[in-house]
Amino acid sequence: MIKKCLFPAAGYGTRFLPATKATPKEMLPILTKPLIQYGVEEALAAGIDTMAIVTGRGKRAIEDHFDISYELEHQIKGTSKEHYLTEIRDVITKCTFSYTRQIEMKGLGHAILSGETLIGNEAFAVVLADDLCDAPKGVLSQMIELYKKYQCPIIAIEEVPKDQTNKYGVIVGEEISKNVYMISDMVEKPEPKNAPSNLAIIGRYLLTPDIFDIIRKTKPGKGGEIQITDALLEQSKKSMVLAYKFDGQRFDCGSIDGFVNATNYFYEKEIK
Ligand code: G1P
Repeated sequence: MIKKCLFPAAGYGTRFLPATKATPKEMLPILTKPLIQYGVEEALAAGIDTMAIVTGRGKRAIEDHFDISYELEHQIKGTSKEHYLTEIRDVITKCTFSYTRQIEMKGLGHAILSGETLIGNEAFAVVLADDLCDAPKGVLSQMIELYKKYQCPIIAIEEVPKDQTNKYGVIVGEEISKNVYMISDMVEKPEPKNAPSNLAIIGRYLLTPDIFDIIRKTKPGKGGEIQITDALLEQSKKSMVLAYKFDGQRFDCGSIDGFVNATNYFYEKEIK
């Protein structure tokens, strides 16, 4: 089964400058928890315990976050504040973390390829931490359920307003069972007037290791970047690639609106 999850986390987070000047965007918190920890917890809930993180320059805080801080442990142990560390201690105990760096920013496909040494020759999940999801059953858990049945790559999708297709990869497919589509076409960030559908890819993928060779052969696409969307389209021509309209809520925490909405949502849910 799927045991590893790749987190592309090398991006600059320019939309959140100056906050992201010295802080990785993946470390921005929704309430008290950094975005990437939500992603790791979702993976863990889906039975994945090996986290492979593709980082870049200025991202060391991610490694420190998923490590013991002896000084902090020493200060807080036995005090009324110790419970604040419960969740992160739990994550650190249950998972292993490995890191590699993406040296150049050449797109999501390239970031995923940079993680090949951490993944090896097995199927794996990909989480884009700024797509924060909340669902009664985690989105990765839902996808892994489906993977057990189909044993092929699966991409999470949701319907977006037609005027927003230029923010997403968009798929076309035949609905083969409820909420499950067999992909026949995919386009990265089409302008609304050219978009073949409003079924947008969101940042959860289950991939098979043959994708690495396909990415290696994928030419730069939209924005001059190596796109995972283009690599998956190539793969779908030879074998089945599915898209899954998941059950749950997604917040685009890479945008200020989405970030604020997520904060309000989790505040209502967990604090009030
Ligand atoms: C990436 C993908 C895009 C997908 C999106 C989901 O774009 O390239 O296909 O729809 O993630 O968040 P990015 O948002 O990194 O530009």
